[in-house]
Amino acid sequence: MAAVAVSHVYPLGSRLNEQGRLEVGGCDVVELAREFGTPAYVYAEDDMRARSRAYLEAFRARIERFEVIYASKAFPCTAVYRLFAEEGLSTDVASAGELHLALAGGFEPELIYMHGNNKTPADLDDALEAGVGHIVVDSFDEIDRLRGREARVLVRVTPGIKPSTHSYIQTGQEDSKFGFGLDDVPRAVAACAEAGLQLDGLHAHIGSQVFELEAFERLAEVLVDMGDWPLLNLGGGLGIAYTRDQRPPAIEEYVDALLRHAFEGVTVLCEPGRSLVGSAGVTIYTVGTVKRIPGVRTYVAVDGGMSDNLRPMLYGARYEAEIADRFGGGDQVTIAGMHCESGDILVRDALLDDPRPGDVLVTPATGAYGHAMANNYNALLRPPVIFCKDGDARVVVRRETYDDLTRRDV
Ligand code: LLP
Repeated sequence: MAAVAVSHVYPLGSRLNEQGRLEVGGCDVVELAREFGTPAYVYAEDDMRARSRAYLEAFRARIERFEVIYASKAFPCTAVYRLFAEEGLSTDVASAGELHLALAGGFEPELIYMHGNNKTPADLDDALEAGVGHIVVDSFDEIDRLRGREARVLVRVTPGIKPSTHSYIQTGQEDSKFGFGLDDVPRAVAACAEAGLQLDGLHAHIGSQVFELEAFERLAEVLVDMGDWPLLNLGGGLGIAYTRDQRPPAIEEYVDALLRHAFEGVTVLCEPGRSLVGSAGVTIYTVGTVKRIPGVRTYVAVDGGMSDNLRPMLYGARYEAEIADRFGGGDQVTIAGMHCESGDILVRDALLDDPRPGDVLVTPATGAYGHAMANNYNALLRPPVIFCKDGDARVVVRRETYDDLTRRDV
């Protein structure tokens, strides 16, 4: 049997091998399950590298001065910071914890941007002591907290743009906890000067999992019209396909929309998270229980759930699933997790081929905000992260142990 490609929801280079099993980064995921156990986050390293190069090339083809900044909240672990540092990206961090990881991953402090709507004095101390390139100031209180410190800053603007995406992940609207509304920006600029901060430009991020190119284009227009600044940061937000019916814009089309307006003498910054890592990762589980309720529903329960993927529960996010060695089934089932909660449903309407205990189940497109938002609900152990490349697999974050669960007890 010839190996066949799988849909665009899976990591680049994924295929079904001669045994009809899914391969990610050249690794047979049924064998990965055997070797490393489940659940596990499996990434195709080359996918992340290809997407970072697509960003760099798209900018390079259109503009001289730019920076592509990895929004690391999507997937903060030292191995991925190291990977993007090697590829020549900058990074942003949304806390002192992410800063710690970025430095551990080898990022030059100069290339780090720090975000946060409520950075504590300790966060700001850590950032300045590490020598981060820029702090993106978010409030008048924060400007006060930085008074007299030697800091380069950007002012975060809420541009009054509301893209269509889940309301929890819209950030550019006026009614937001983030940044300065358009009317407050002149005062924020003055406050930075008065506090002795070096203000290098403006930042805005309109939201996440956005497909609407016009919203990004409008954002660029709003920022360009806000005066002459050396740096303009247009945030992130480009969406990815979670299911095969979704067709997000290509990275190149997104960059094209951001740069449709002329930027003169400006360094343009862009801050993608999800679109760099989301499609690169899948989660593998083992099916444990199949419960058929005639005329009602079939529940296929796996050995993870809302502790390794909170997105279905938080945002109603839809995923696909397949049995890793029997793709393309027609039995409509609901994939449940193993948590003590009825809402612990990973996929409401998956089509599987006769699922049974022991099967390896895969959910694609879990590379962003999966590991990042993993938790220990019901004292489940957080899964390992495995990077695959050319048929070699390496664990970059190990599975938690029961000792990890009691480690902080005093
Ligand atoms: N820049 C800033 C200032 C941000 O707040 C974010 C995301 C990004 C960049 C990157 O956005 P991306 O390119 O990844 O869309 N947990 C949610 C997503 C929250 C996004 C928060 N901010 C989810 O799972 O959908």
